[in-house]
Order: sequence, then C-alpha cells, then structure tokens
Amino acid sequence: MSEKIPWWRSSVVYQVYVRSFADANGDGTGDINGIRSRLPYLRSLGVDALWVNPWYVSPLNDGGYDVADYRDIDPRFGTLDDAKRLMAEAEQNGLRVIVDLVPNHTSSEHVWFQQALASGPNSPERARYHFVPGKGDHGELPPNNWTSVFGGPAWSRVPDGDWYLHMFDVTQPDLNWEHPEVRAEFEAILRFWLDLGAGGFRVDVAHALIKGEGYPDAETEAQEVLSTPSGDHPLWDQPDLQVIIEEWRRVLDEYPDKVMVAEAWVPSWERLANYVQPGKYHQTFDFHFTQSNWRADTLRKTIETSMGASGAVGSIPTWVLSNHDLIRHATRLALPVGTNLRDWLNRRVDLVADVELGERRARAAALLMLGLPGSVYLYQGEELGLPEVHDLPEAVLEDPTWARSGHADRGRDGCRVPIPWTREGNSYGFGDNGSWLPQPPQWGEFSVEANEEDPNSMLSLYRKAISIRSKRLRKDEVLDWIDMGNDVLAFRRGSDTLCVVNLGRDSLKLPEGEVLLSSVPVDDGFLPTDGAVWVSIES
Ligand code: BGC
Repeated sequence: MSEKIPWWRSSVVYQVYVRSFADANGDGTGDINGIRSRLPYLRSLGVDALWVNPWYVSPLNDGGYDVADYRDIDPRFGTLDDAKRLMAEAEQNGLRVIVDLVPNHTSSEHVWFQQALASGPNSPERARYHFVPGKGDHGELPPNNWTSVFGGPAWSRVPDGDWYLHMFDVTQPDLNWEHPEVRAEFEAILRFWLDLGAGGFRVDVAHALIKGEGYPDAETEAQEVLSTPSGDHPLWDQPDLQVIIEEWRRVLDEYPDKVMVAEAWVPSWERLANYVQPGKYHQTFDFHFTQSNWRADTLRKTIETSMGASGAVGSIPTWVLSNHDLIRHATRLALPVGTNLRDWLNRRVDLVADVELGERRARAAALLMLGLPGSVYLYQGEELGLPEVHDLPEAVLEDPTWARSGHADRGRDGCRVPIPWTREGNSYGFGDNGSWLPQPPQWGEFSVEANEEDPNSMLSLYRKAISIRSKRLRKDEVLDWIDMGNDVLAFRRGSDTLCVVNLGRDSLKLPEGEVLLSSVPVDDGFLPTDGAVWVSIES
C-alpha cells in the first residue's frame, strides 16, 4: 500500500494579487475583505489554496514587495484581524492561505533601515544591510558594477558617503543574510504567520539572499541570469543560501501539512532541483514552462526534464503559466512563436496579437497543465481568459521598472489590472469606486458574470478541469507518453485517463474512449489544431 500523497504534491493553488482582486471598501484598491467576500467563488473553482501577494504595511513602491512591517497589514488592504478572519474562513471552505515571504530586502521605511540611516558608517545597525564604502579617490564610485533588476545601478549613496545595495528599487535595500539577527528575525516571522494559521509561504526571490563574497563585479546584468548559460552570477543562487532554506524547513516541519514554495529564477533544472531536495523547499515554480514555445517538441522536453530533475530528488514539478510578473499567457500565446515579448510590449516590434488564437491556445494550455502530475499555480484572471492590458496610458504606470528603465520598459502593470466580476457597473464589480489601474472597455466580456453565462467559457473549462483532475488525476503521479505524431503531446495519467494536445497543422482523429473534457468542439471525432482533450480509457 503506498503512503498517502501529501496535498501539496498535486494541489491547485490560486494566486490572489490582493490589490486587484476585489475591493470591499470602495477605495479603488483590492483588500482582504474583498477576498473574504469572494471565497464562495474560489471554492466553486475547486482550488486547494490561495497564495496572497504581500499584504504587509508598505509604501507600495513595488506593489508591496517593499515591506515596512512584516507583522502587520497595510491599512489599504485591511487589518491583522481581517487577515485572521480570512484564514479562518478559508479553512472553513477547505482552502489554505499561503503567505508571501519577502526575505531578500525590506522597504526603506522599515525600522531597521531607518535605524541604519540614522547610525553612521560601520555601525551595528548598518550591518543588517549591505552598506559598503565606494570606490574612487573619494568613494564617489559604486562598490562594483552590479545593476538593479529594475534597471540602473544596484547601489545608492547616502549623504555620509556609504553605498547600500538594492537589487530592485532604491526603496528596497537588500538585507545581509550573513547576519544572525536577520536570520533570527525571519524565523520569528515564519512562526508569527504559522501561529496565525497560514498554510505556508511563497518565498520571494528565493535564489537571492546571499551575495558573492567580497562583492565581485558581475559579468552580466542582473536581469540576464536566465540567459547566462553557467548561471554563475554573484547576486544569484549562491551555494550558502541552501543552509538558510534548511533552517526555514525545520521551522515549517514543526507545524503539520505546511508548504513552502520557492520563486527561484535559475537557468537549469539541476540548479532548480537543489531547492527541492529533502529537507528544503516542498516546491519551486518551474518558470521554464512559462518560457517554452508553443511547440510539441519544446513542451515535451520541458515537461520531461522538469519531471526527471525533480523526480531525481524525490520532488515533483510545480507548473505555472502566468503570474503578476509575466505578460499574461493568453497574450503570449497570441503572438508568433519566438516573439521577444518585452520588445513587443515596449513597441519595438510591430506585431498585433491574434486574440482568438491566444484564447484557443490558452484553453489547450490549461488542459495540458492541469493534466500533468505535480502542483499547479493559477494566476487570478487566467480562468476568465484575461489578456495582458498592453496599452495602459503611460501616466498610470506604477511598476518601478517604468521609471528606473528611463521609460524604456513598461513593466508589469498590464497583468495586474483589476478583475472584472460583472459585465457592467462601476469597475465591472471590482469595487464601488473605480480601480487603481484603468480597466479596458472590453473588460466586462471577460467578467465572471459573462463567463458564468456561457457553459463553454474559459471559467467553465477551468471549473470542469479542476473537478475532473481532483477525481481522476490526483491519485497517482504517473505519466506515460504515447506516440501520436511529432506535433502531438499525448500522455496517459494512471491507467484510465489520456491527455492529448494537438499542436500540428492537421486535425487529429480522437483516440478511442469517452471524451471527458475538451478545449474545442470535437463532436466530429477529430481534435483540431491547438485543441486539447481528456479522454477516459477505462475498460
Ligand atoms: C516578485 C516581484 C518583485 C520582486 C522584488 C519578485 O520576483 O515576484 O513582483 O518585484 O520579487 O521583490
């Protein structure tokens, strides 16, 4: 008899970008009470857990990834009591709440950074961050050539002459993870949220934390880490950070059934697998999947490699198609294979997204992802088929990337536009008083209301798929590839379910069996191009 499979190895987790999900108090910003009001919706979707993006006290210079107080909620999102109520009510609805842990940096408004500024060079207060003297005769040059992920240098100078490190915005100073107080503080923060009932943590930039000893110059820009074949970069994936993961895991293991998922952008599966060895993270997002072209050979290689590398350390992949940092996949898939997406977003290439194609492929991609063994993370709105809002007026762009890139990179606001709940009405049901980012005129067509009126909508597809997945696909972790031609992805799950995705030019004769679910009509017995189907092959 095999042991019971832990819930997180096959979970479907729904990512809530709090600011843009539902606004209960009508101030134009989503909030915790908005999430509470929508728990029935999340329950009806059939997901196991929510991952909530940072909700802590924050100036929101980077959407909340600039935390001023890790133990309290920003008033724009609610109160700590609201968070406790959400966790309790979620539990009553069978949902866990995964909290976002932001350990690499604090906000510059965090008390530690304020103390560091107030104390002089070489003070113990500065030792919790990376305060370093500059180069040049008068220390007027930054300590090295590191660049910020959001553009520009990764160092800023304070009036007394020291430079401090910020891999992201100037208001996000990096913590010094060699410092025992930093480590102790984050262990206490983990316990604080676990004691309140959190189901676990999504760990922000989990491949950061430790910096190359002596702050050596980097050969590539910080943003290029995924395209640096060796993956060696003094800001990323330093071996010593693995010890920190083990420390955190020991804390989590004191509480039953918790999960810790890493956001680790590392270039190879071997490196990624280090994060999910026994005693480390339970899961790590597989971003290679988000970057795989819509081609059968590329996708199959990604799936096989991911399963092989994670399987070798006793883990299982964690699939994701979209999140709050990426161009929404309904739009990615609407562009020709191989398009440089940032160039497209920033209008350096003249291409019009084929919206229908994107929707058709997004439907098939959903059945592919939800058909795979492993855990799946959905990003709010993908179940409605939301596209990227690529034409937000420049005046409303808030992502620090926009300013720090000298207005060259429009950044990530286009995937963060508030959710439409109703066809019409103020902010399409998001709240009573507008929304912090403007919603486009066609937003009502994607609303939950419009989706619910159509039995073939994206939402209907997701609901059915998640329900079938939980009944048929969660009982084992076995995947067997079946050869149905070079342009077809076909695999059997367990003994009774077949998942087929047709990426070829020609329609494909359906395999024998009962059609459980399809992303396109298949009444004529054929699966058209860019269609996916799940077939029951029970004898
Ligand atoms: C988050 C981003 C954030 C960055 C800095 C990430 O990777 O997902 O949204 O800007 O970390 O915290």
